[in-house]
Amino acid sequence: MCGIIAYKGKRPDAASLVLKGLKKLEYRGYDSWGVAVKTDLNIVIHKKIGKIGELNIGKLKLPTSHLAMAHSRWATHGGVTDKNAHPHASCGNRVVVIHNGIIENYLQLKKALIKKGHKFVSETDTEVAAHLIEENLKKYPGKIDKAIFRHEVQRSLEQFKGRYAFLVMSEDCDSIVAARRGSPLIIGKGHDGDYFIASDIPAFLDYTNEVMYLDDDEMVVIDGGHDFIDLKTGKEIKKRIVKIEWKAQEAEKGSFLHFMIKEIMEQKETIHRAINQNEKLMKKIADAINKAFGTYFIGCGTAGKVCIAASYLFSKICKKHVNVQFGSEFPNFQHFIKKNSLLVAVSQSGETADTLEAMEVAKKKGAKLLTIVNVEGSSMDRMADLSIHIKAGPEKAVASTKATTAQLAIVTLLAYACAGRLNEGKKLLIEAASQINDMLNPRYEKHILELAEKIKNVESMYVIGRGMNYPMALESAIKLQEVSYIHAEGFAGGELKHGPIALISKGTPCIALVANDETRSDVISNAIEIKARGGFIIGVSPRREEVFDYWIRVPDAGDASPIVNIIPVQILAYQLAVLRKNNPDMPRNLAKSVTVK
Ligand code: AGP
Repeated sequence: MCGIIAYKGKRPDAASLVLKGLKKLEYRGYDSWGVAVKTDLNIVIHKKIGKIGELNIGKLKLPTSHLAMAHSRWATHGGVTDKNAHPHASCGNRVVVIHNGIIENYLQLKKALIKKGHKFVSETDTEVAAHLIEENLKKYPGKIDKAIFRHEVQRSLEQFKGRYAFLVMSEDCDSIVAARRGSPLIIGKGHDGDYFIASDIPAFLDYTNEVMYLDDDEMVVIDGGHDFIDLKTGKEIKKRIVKIEWKAQEAEKGSFLHFMIKEIMEQKETIHRAINQNEKLMKKIADAINKAFGTYFIGCGTAGKVCIAASYLFSKICKKHVNVQFGSEFPNFQHFIKKNSLLVAVSQSGETADTLEAMEVAKKKGAKLLTIVNVEGSSMDRMADLSIHIKAGPEKAVASTKATTAQLAIVTLLAYACAGRLNEGKKLLIEAASQINDMLNPRYEKHILELAEKIKNVESMYVIGRGMNYPMALESAIKLQEVSYIHAEGFAGGELKHGPIALISKGTPCIALVANDETRSDVISNAIEIKARGGFIIGVSPRREEVFDYWIRVPDAGDASPIVNIIPVQILAYQLAVLRKNNPDMPRNLAKSVTVK
């Protein structure tokens, strides 16, 4: 969702620091952006609809300052307009806020504030926060110290229902206050009294890799130093400084045109990194899965498809049934959760609201929580009893690619560990990683580009798969939808004849994901059925089959077939996006990390 960054410190170029940081966070939301800069006299605000991407920061002529904050928006309440962009100010400009999340009771608060004479200029829920804090500060005319500021922000927060990450500035105080309930905020501690507050680490990774995590119902006041406060008890709390291993250049595009293709190509190494796990930990987790009274794999979107793949892999490799649900639907199944159940939350960001809610629901029932997650220190990582870090490095393109295959590698490895065959699983995945390394070459990309050129103007396309490639058919459809905006749907091969085959007409592209296993001949039969209705068959398969109109070769990777089969579709989706002049890194209407329900 929205990207947030603030800087408070000794440097005089706070405005440019936060805007540079915001550019790195733009993958989180890109409807509009804005910045607030505190000077000795007032707070200067500049905001605008559109992407911040190519902005020439110097041209804005923002004042020199030691305190500034910026925001990129993914609209929830109110359309995409300059007025609805953050930051939002109170009537007198005394209080300025930026916010990620939703204030559920904003209408009620807004009515009460209007009665008191406050004038609203936007349609957002956020603006009530600025007015309410200003209202609470009325009794302190003129300059205020940090204790008053902190106290009145805290009092105002008590009135909000919903999820939030807030940053608050006042023209009468030199401190900045940040608070969190449900949406991520991380504090970066630089040298010499420099502080950053951001919704994700890449925003400030150029300046520091030392971070402190703000947890739910906590607040921090930055003012040359830092004071963390537990909002429930009002007491100050100590925070541990954590050193982040990510390198700043890992979060850069380098020589690639887009993050999406850079991240696709990184899969040459990421599978290797993912499976390089502590054996004891893997065995401990396998033991927990084997002993659990019901294991539930939970994820959203692409991570949800990895969960479905896990159910096939567990069934085949270790003969074990695991349950699968999307995060948003899991609460409907909580009635089955017992103290000895296990919930496995799969996520790239570790911040997806629906998955977090599922974890909270399971935790309340006393279940054990495991997470398979990319972002270390994320909410899921900290909430879980046990974590497996997939080590994919920063993933910035909205469409997940390298995190997906790293998650697939981990669930495959876990299935092998549950069968007591961890080393065999590792060997299989090492072999797949080296096959991917050979596969990802310019000739391969060119072959897929030729296909993309052929089909770039189609209205719809379909993807079929069977067994462990069925969830990859679903994932293929998401990838194509997200970045090419072509209508795409994934089906279990056998399901087509029960209805969807009516959609096939002359030339309709249909991708068949084929593995060299017991599902091969059936999925080929399904492709033949589609071809008989005029479909154009694109085979992603280790072997050329007669039915294919276009063949994309993949290695014969055994149980790692979902991993190798999804990669050419990722490339195809990327190339279709570029040919159709879409920005694959920032698809319309989407945001990288979905922190609202
Ligand atoms: C992936 O391409 C999507 N952008 C989206 O479905 C994503 O997988 C989903 O929102 C879950 O995100 P998470 O992995 O960060 O939890």
